[in-house]
Amino acid sequence: MIYTLATQALHILPPEDAHTLTVLLLKAGLGPVSRLSTPELAIEVAFDGGILRFPNCIGLAAGFDKNADVPVAMTRAGFGFAECGTVTPLPQGGNPKPRLFRLTEDQAVINRMGFNNKGLEVFSRHLEPVNARRKKPVMGLNIGANKDAADRMADYVTGLKRLWGLGSYFTINISSPNTPGLRALQGKSHLDDLLGQIAETRAALVKVSGVNYPIFLKIAPDLDDSEIEDTVASTLAHKLDGLIVSNTTLSRDGLISAHASESGGMSGAPLFELSTRALRVAYAASGGKLVLIGAGGVSSGAQAYAKIRAGASLVQLYSALVYKGPRLADEVRRDLVSCLKADGFRSVSEAVGAG
Ligand SMILES: Cc1cc2nc3c(=O)[nH]c(=O)nc-3n(C[C@H](O)[C@H](O)[C@H](O)COP(=O)(O)O)c2cc1C
Repeated sequence: MIYTLATQALHILPPEDAHTLTVLLLKAGLGPVSRLSTPELAIEVAFDGGILRFPNCIGLAAGFDKNADVPVAMTRAGFGFAECGTVTPLPQGGNPKPRLFRLTEDQAVINRMGFNNKGLEVFSRHLEPVNARRKKPVMGLNIGANKDAADRMADYVTGLKRLWGLGSYFTINISSPNTPGLRALQGKSHLDDLLGQIAETRAALVKVSGVNYPIFLKIAPDLDDSEIEDTVASTLAHKLDGLIVSNTTLSRDGLISAHASESGGMSGAPLFELSTRALRVAYAASGGKLVLIGAGGVSSGAQAYAKIRAGASLVQLYSALVYKGPRLADEVRRDLVSCLKADGFRSVSEAVGAG
């Protein structure tokens, strides 16, 4: 109740100020504490190097915690894992403000933040005390490239090297629409080159450190079927572990809110169908050989369940938090357990790809 009221009160502020204040409050320990137990939603992801255990399959999507300030607070609020970033090697300010818009009538968000973040050094410094904890949250580390980088691919290699050992999995984000030209890395030849460099760097890091981590590639929902199929083939060829489907969209179909014509990536409710369709294509193309994380427009247990049935082993959300507040993780988990039980599934892994 208090968090729902606080979420509504935050809407008095411009969206980015509301977000900055939310992160400050969470950092100060004022976030909710989940007491919900959902063993049905625990899931294990096997990869070359071991097994990664997620206490529940509902995670926080990247972009909320760009500087790794609050992974502990967000998992304490009920998320099974928190993806921090996107982080770039050097700090950068991002695009001019305003660059974040609420589309309340559509339950959507448009952002053109442009990878604003404090850079790898601050990000790593924030992660060190988290890693020193006895009980560490499951953390994804989402890496990107600086806007002005002479060699963008080298930025991903730099991120992987600097953060190796500081998280639970990595995400290679080449699908933000807000860094000009970044999405071109999704094209077949660029992608093969990039993933080749990632695979080579990973092999060297495994050799030196003796540990491995799952690596995911995060893709746009605006790829067509054959592009998704090519992406799946490259991901398998370079032995990455999975895909996050998806990032925000350039589409504005069906929007009615005043800010609908702002440029940037759109997320939230209107992204659900598009991103779930892309997920289904990726699942069919991968034949179950990749771990898929479904993101896009999830604000309920039923929608998380639809992502799982479409092939996702894990689900992420962000935009719905803007409208529903941080108690949403527990609400989604509770309803997802009911959905599973109604269809006779004892665990989330039984329902993955059930159609
Ligand atoms: C304000 C905002 C910032 C975002 N920043 C990032 C980012 O830095 N890196 C990234 O991979 N995705 C970013 N995303 C995309 C989300 O992680 C997610 O893929 C997308 O919003 C779809 O999920 P949703 O509909 O639940 O928000 C951002 C989304 C929003 C709304």
